[in-house]
Amino acid sequence: MRCIHRRDRLENENCSQSSPGPPLYVCNCNGIRERDVRHAIACGASRPAEVFKSQGCQAQCAKCVCEMRQMIDESREALRYAAE
Ligand code: FES
Repeated sequence: MRCIHRRDRLENENCSQSSPGPPLYVCNCNGIRERDVRHAIACGASRPAEVFKSQGCQAQCAKCVCEMRQMIDESREALRYAAE
C-alpha cells in the first residue's frame, strides 16, 4: 500500500517537472512552494520550524506543518533506503 502511494507521488512529481504547470504551494500563508520545502530539507532542515526559518518566516495557521513533516519523513526514508 505504501509503495503504491510513493510511486503515485513520484509519477505526479515527474509529471509536474515535465510540464510547466502552476507552482505547488505547501504553505499558502507564507507562499512556500513544494520546491522551497524540498530545497530546505536538502540543506538540512529536519523540522518544519527550520523550513520556515530558511524562508525567513514563521508559521501562521500551521495547517501546512503536517505536510512538511511528511515531506521530511519521506526524505529521511529515501536516504535510509539509499544507504542500504
Ligand atoms: S499554511 Fe502554512 S502557516 Fe498557514
